[in-house]
Amino acid sequence: MKILIHQTKALATDCAASLIAARLNRQPDTVLGLATGGTMEMVYANLIARHRAGEVSFAQATSFNLDEYVGLPETHPCSYWHYMREKLFDHVDIDPGRAFLPHGDAPDAEAEAERYEAAIARAGDIGLQLLGLGLNGHIGFNEPTSSLSSLTRIKTLTRSTREANARYFDDPQDVPRLAITMGIGTILRAQEVVLLAYGAEKADVVARMIEGPVAAACPASALQMHRKVTVVLDEAAAGAL
Ligand code: GLP
Repeated sequence: MKILIHQTKALATDCAASLIAARLNRQPDTVLGLATGGTMEMVYANLIARHRAGEVSFAQATSFNLDEYVGLPETHPCSYWHYMREKLFDHVDIDPGRAFLPHGDAPDAEAEAERYEAAIARAGDIGLQLLGLGLNGHIGFNEPTSSLSSLTRIKTLTRSTREANARYFDDPQDVPRLAITMGIGTILRAQEVVLLAYGAEKADVVARMIEGPVAAACPASALQMHRKVTVVLDEAAAGAL
């Protein structure tokens, strides 16, 4: 793992966005693996600014997001479809026909997960996978005890994840209990991974991911098995290394 520690979130964000822009400039038809969450909002804002400045184009890229809540239609304000349109897709030149997320409201969620996994494989797998980090060590919605070779499937969200994400919903009870998520095995097939984590509250889990044993108890630790991972941190998130 390559660990890049920046003094501030803003510098770390600029670093991560520059890695993505460089990859797209080198290979415009890159298959991007995209993530959601608070951390990514800053990265997408930075990429939009770079796009407006003519520094990066998504026109030939394909994207697959990591995950989506089961039961939420694309139009739901808390769906990850909605997040991606609002935070990135509507502001850059990505072809909406090549920007994919799982459909949370598919009548058969298990079949939807299998279809999504097959679509990723058909696209030649992910070129650059962007990841955030859950407080409990999850990547995507691969919660602790997820199989380290799992593929896209349905996962039950832990209480702590539902609590962490309740801030986006009117009522904490509205946070879905299930999600469709790329598996850890799916993520590990990516050619390269860029993971971002900010803030002192992530310091312990960052240390477990990088220095702890490879274990299903901390799904992100599986990234130790990948040959090209860049972890971008601010100083606070690097505090326990
Ligand atoms: C959600 C997403 C994850 C993301 C995590 C961290 O649970 N499914 O992909 O990494 O949140 O989010 P934040 O960046 O808000 O800490």
